[in-house]
Amino acid sequence: MTQGVVVGEESARLITFEGVDGCGKSTQLRLAAERLRAAGEAVVTTFEPGDTALGRELRRLLLDGEFVPVPEAELLLFLADRAQHVREVIASALARGAWVLCDRYSDSTLAYQLAARQLADQQIPLHALLNFAECGVRPGLTLWFDLSVEQAAARMRQRESSGEAPTRLDDEQAAFHQRVAAAFAQQWQAEPERIARIDADRPIADVHGDVCAALARRLPLSAVAAQ
Ligand code: TYD
Repeated sequence: MTQGVVVGEESARLITFEGVDGCGKSTQLRLAAERLRAAGEAVVTTFEPGDTALGRELRRLLLDGEFVPVPEAELLLFLADRAQHVREVIASALARGAWVLCDRYSDSTLAYQLAARQLADQQIPLHALLNFAECGVRPGLTLWFDLSVEQAAARMRQRESSGEAPTRLDDEQAAFHQRVAAAFAQQWQAEPERIARIDADRPIADVHGDVCAALARRLPLSAVAAQ
């Protein structure tokens, strides 16, 4: 396990994929990884919550519906998963010089726990908590896949009819998902240098083209655009 953490330039190689459930970011992450690898880049793909041994247990506790954590506990469990993930997976991959493509990160916590669970109004040292869990590792680029809640819900219904079980959070009311979507939009407006908006209401290949364009525009990756 990595004891130290990576900060500064190395963590600029962390690219996070964000958006409402059903926005298509996981498919796009896989395609982006293939593209980067084809361009000769070292790439590690990962996700939150649940991509460590401890994280798999936290994911089960958080999402399978057996338990319903209170909002405060939910926030702290997602942060625990992140700290473990950063130190065990992300920091060491960045230290090796790999690109790390991560399906969800702190923007999801801001959107789901702080905004949708309405914890932001509480007197909590929000940014200190998020920074603590990130162990100093901030993404160099975040791709936000913008899709309306209605369209995302239709895609989720399709997935469910093909046998994919919904998580406890997928089953939240529409108003919850509306708050999640609004929070992602706000984060993009607040941090346009870090967050690139991708219109996710398009065919997979077109969205992938926009992802490659965003990578090439924002990162030293001209090989990606040239293909
Ligand atoms: P998952 O099945 O991985 O969905 P997706 O493919 O949409 O990412 O479920 C992860 C769920 O956890 C998703 O509903 C978002 C939620 N989540 C939070 O609420 N807070 C967080 O900090 C993270 C990382 C995820």
